[in-house]
Amino acid sequence: MPADNRPLIEVHNLVKHFGPVVALAGVSLTVRAGEVHCLLGDNGAGKSTLIKTLSGVYQPTTGDFAVDGEAVTFSSPRQALDSGVATVYQDLAMIPLLSITRNFFMGREPVRKFGPLAFMDQKFADRVARDEMKKIGIDIRDPQQAVGTLSGGERQCVAIARAVYFGAKVLILDEPTSALGVAQTSMVLKYVRQVRQRGLGVIFITHNVRHAYAVGDSFTVLNRGRTMGTFRRSEIQLDELQTMMAGDKELQELSDELGGTV
Ligand SMILES: Nc1ncnc2c1ncn2[C@@H]1O[C@H](COP(=O)(O)OP(=O)(O)O)[C@@H](O)[C@H]1O
Ligand SMILES: [Mg+2]
Repeated sequence: MPADNRPLIEVHNLVKHFGPVVALAGVSLTVRAGEVHCLLGDNGAGKSTLIKTLSGVYQPTTGDFAVDGEAVTFSSPRQALDSGVATVYQDLAMIPLLSITRNFFMGREPVRKFGPLAFMDQKFADRVARDEMKKIGIDIRDPQQAVGTLSGGERQCVAIARAVYFGAKVLILDEPTSALGVAQTSMVLKYVRQVRQRGLGVIFITHNVRHAYAVGDSFTVLNRGRTMGTFRRSEIQLDELQTMMAGDKELQELSDELGGTV
């Protein structure tokens, strides 16, 4: 971990209710610069609610959080982005029919002015898109090709590269590997490790403990809206993490089977 490991996100006792449903029951965690912090948990644990709250989609019922040392309240995803919190959602990251360049800039295209007229600077945009992808080892021959022609792993990498290029401090990745095969997964995980070396804080959401353990510096396990703790890599083994997640599931299944008496 780099010398500068200041906290980039500090979450204090975050609670989120949806009517009678308690999605988050008081979650606290800290993500530092240069750290991949894995958020693990089964379906319904509250992972999506937590990151949607951090990225301005939801407002917390109670509790608060700070970004890079400053207390923030976000009333929109745009505000979160402006504060340096960028979220890459698994499905919504890209528009398949648009070019790689258009997807890379997505409304933030560089503009060149001729008198009163403004044009998108296509050459510059294409060059940036190609260069940024090259930095991560993905050779794009034609940045004008539709993003849908890239592999799933490459598309995730475009989405991550875009967030990094536009100055994200905290990168939230929601299940970036869940729809990918082995080779594609390894491409994305390698890139996530690389991003962390630039001093970003990464929140990596997954329910695949192996993927988490391959990149994680620390791990927070969520269970029904509560954290079961945060563990540094040196403090926990892969199989212990696995047990922490699976053990509860088995217990729940057993409980269901017995009519909720366990
Ligand atoms: N918009 C919503 N309205 C009502 N309940 C919700 C909403 N979003 C999530 N929940 C509930 O909150 C709990 C946590 O969900 P979620 O954060 O999606 O978990 P995860 O992403 O870990 O699968 C679940 O019980 C879910 O049904
Ligand atoms: Mg979810």
